[in-house]
Amino acid sequence: MILSIESSCDDSSIAITEIDSKKVIFHKKISQDESHTLHGGVVPEIAARLHAEALPKILEECKPYFVGLKAVAVTTSPGLSVTLLEGLIMAKALCMSLGLPLIAIDHLKGHLYSLFIEKEALFPISVLLVSGGHTMIIEARSDSDMRVVASTLDDSFGESFDKCAKMLGLGYPGGPIVEKYAKGGDKDSIELPIPLKDSSEIAFSFSGLKNAVRLAAERYSPLDEQTKKNICASFQKSACEHLANKLKRYFKKSETKSFAIVGGASANLYLRNRLSKLCGEFHKEILFAPLEYCSDNAVMIGRCAIESYKRGDFEDIVGLDISPKSRIFTLS
Ligand code: KG4
Ligand code: ZN
Repeated sequence: MILSIESSCDDSSIAITEIDSKKVIFHKKISQDESHTLHGGVVPEIAARLHAEALPKILEECKPYFVGLKAVAVTTSPGLSVTLLEGLIMAKALCMSLGLPLIAIDHLKGHLYSLFIEKEALFPISVLLVSGGHTMIIEARSDSDMRVVASTLDDSFGESFDKCAKMLGLGYPGGPIVEKYAKGGDKDSIELPIPLKDSSEIAFSFSGLKNAVRLAAERYSPLDEQTKKNICASFQKSACEHLANKLKRYFKKSETKSFAIVGGASANLYLRNRLSKLCGEFHKEILFAPLEYCSDNAVMIGRCAIESYKRGDFEDIVGLDISPKSRIFTLS
């Protein structure tokens, strides 16, 4: 079995995965949403201190499995330096004391493997990653050949939901609450721009849309609940239409038959429906991760680590460091 640790942002999570069957044996996650909601976003120092409390608590529950462990895997990039370090320190201590090899996993690659939990991997596949820190299209040809072919010029998709929620006073994280509010609103009631609509470039941008939400919130101030719902619905429609427009351009030149959406924001059902329709038009198969594994978790890190373990891709325990930037290759 592999023990995996995830602490790249505000979720402390540890999982244990069987190598041959890929079965999830244990998983626990402690989220910090409540501690960050007051600040409207993640405060790195607070997050790191909460990981230092939560990770040992979860590890305590893993002790019965220690005897069967073959390796320890940990997210080392990208993410918040201070929180990544909490996971890495724990992983190093475990490897040294139990005499196990250490596997480093890129968080973005981990999200991609959320598609293959308890399953065989499927390649080639084009993947839209929508999380709090990233919005990108990744072309994955194999476990060791993954390239970023499009990314955001400014904010990420998930981040734009967080900022929209903050402007409307709805709390953090914004994604689930904006989606909930949007259900009760009229998506055609407030005119908001669709970013980069007339540009042929395959790239994403959310800062202009965010500003338009700010202006709408000011225009209708003081905001009643129904107006907030209408803003959420109109914002969600514009943000998803933007993704659909850019993917349409991408699909016209990509021959890959399988397409997937991963990352925390891939839990958004409006987005899932919109992109399922688009994939239907292009005769592409669409894949999603199970809802419980869309947001950050150690299960996807453990699943990804199985591939590294099979290749014998181990790290120098003393020398391994974290990196705030992803190790996935970007095509220029
Ligand atoms: O992947 P994730 O858990 O963490 C990062 O790697 O960043 O993604 C978290 C992000 C947050 O910005 C959150 O607001 C967004 O995903 N999110 C959503 C939804 N659920 C979470 N965005 C839109 N709709 C949702 N239902
Ligand atoms: Zn993530």
